[in-house]
Amino acid sequence: MGSQRPWRYGFVRTVHVSRASMAEEKRAAVNEIDKSRFVLRVKTHAVRVQPKLTETARLLLDPELLRVPKLSYLVKNKESSESFLLLLKYVNSIEGDPSLPLGNVVLAGEKTKEQVLASLRQTVEEQKHSIKKRITELPESALNAVSSLTVEDLDEYEIQVGYDYWNWSVVLKKSLPDEFLCPSSYEQVGHIIHLNLRDDQLPHRYLIGSVLMEKVKGTRTVVNKVEPTGGAFRLFQMELLAGEDDFLAQVKENGCVYEMDFSKLYWNSRLEGEHRRIVETMTEKDILADAFAGVGPFVIPAAKLKNVKSYGNDLNPSSVEYMKRNVVKNKVAKLVETSCSDARSFLLDLIDRNIPFTHVVMNFPSGAPEFLDLFRGAYRQQKELPLPMVHCYCFAEGDAPDVEALKRVSSVLYGESKDAFQGECRIVRRVSPKKSQVCVSFAMPQDVAYLDPEENPTKRRRAET
Ligand SMILES: C[S@@+](CC[C@H](N)C(=O)[O-])C[C@H]1O[C@@H](n2cnc3c(N)ncnc32)[C@H](O)[C@@H]1O
Repeated sequence: MGSQRPWRYGFVRTVHVSRASMAEEKRAAVNEIDKSRFVLRVKTHAVRVQPKLTETARLLLDPELLRVPKLSYLVKNKESSESFLLLLKYVNSIEGDPSLPLGNVVLAGEKTKEQVLASLRQTVEEQKHSIKKRITELPESALNAVSSLTVEDLDEYEIQVGYDYWNWSVVLKKSLPDEFLCPSSYEQVGHIIHLNLRDDQLPHRYLIGSVLMEKVKGTRTVVNKVEPTGGAFRLFQMELLAGEDDFLAQVKENGCVYEMDFSKLYWNSRLEGEHRRIVETMTEKDILADAFAGVGPFVIPAAKLKNVKSYGNDLNPSSVEYMKRNVVKNKVAKLVETSCSDARSFLLDLIDRNIPFTHVVMNFPSGAPEFLDLFRGAYRQQKELPLPMVHCYCFAEGDAPDVEALKRVSSVLYGESKDAFQGECRIVRRVSPKKSQVCVSFAMPQDVAYLDPEENPTKRRRAET
């Protein structure tokens, strides 16, 4: 199963050498799955009920019903149009792999119809007591009819599910060796699924790719990250595991639509909540400056949902190209101005132009705090401008990431770490067990914004030594 040849990192380096054999491996991966292993035939007990009694019976027998995802416990009775069948969790037999996880089935084995019935009666009595309020709303005749079910009201029903029924996770677990730890999640950007497989998962990567491709609706491309995200533009090398190498994705987030070439810029679908949270703090009186704007997930919703005048900037020309398109797509061209420059000159330029921005977003966690010194004395000549609320993101490690993040921010702002610095910390997400992305929000302190270079403590210290 899977490839035994040693994996060599780097899509670009290996693709020319071994394209034919990779294609062969990918084709083989699709055929590796024995679909017949996923067929399950389950014979279960069922209660025959008249159409007018189904709701009462459903309520009174609730704990006894068969609950299998995507299948209904109420089915037509093929033998008679006068009644329905309510499927029970007690199954008589399972044909196929019994370890396939089929809902709440209980293998009743040799349980006789009388024993099943006794269990149902007991449940009906218990239900009558536990859900008194709703029971009083039911017609007495219906309650009595369900309480007095007889052996004649019990039937057997066969459920059959096949390969199409199971989700990607079940198919992978059953198709790979027992000791293999399957990926537990993936990230999705429009039609693209991207994975971050561990070294020990790599020999099975094409199988994993083809299963996700087949099982996750709307997927046309599956890639694996082959290097950690890096560089200023936060890009990563990827290997195509299945589908087309089409990276032009469409994404919906917070009521806005974004188009992007995922191979050329940064996007993370897990930040939707964070984008929303920041935008929700604003009103139309605000003006937003996003120094590391990407394709615009802060500036576009701020303009579209809150009518906020926004300035979006990114150093990556591809991000700015798509931010511009997205501004037009979302009909906010009158409110959003875009630029492609370094965050430092972007913000200083806005101050020079007397733009009274009230919020600054700096979502570049691997480097944003190091830009904060730009604010030292930046408003000295423009005291009429409002001092903004800054939302600065950073990565922090250790048991107290918030403390570490505050220290990092205050030490760049003041030139030394300040215990008295007032900032609000929020853990945005855990990047790994030891590393978190943190957002530090703070009102720009006057003693930083109006700092006189002569008063600069770093300079003073240097002069003293
Ligand atoms: C983590 S991404 C965040 C993108 C976007 N704000 C979001 O939330 O999805 C960081 C962005 O900063 C940009 N970037 C990196 N260095 C920069 C710099 N010196 N000046 C401006 N943008 C920069 C990258 O191109 C990237 O788009």
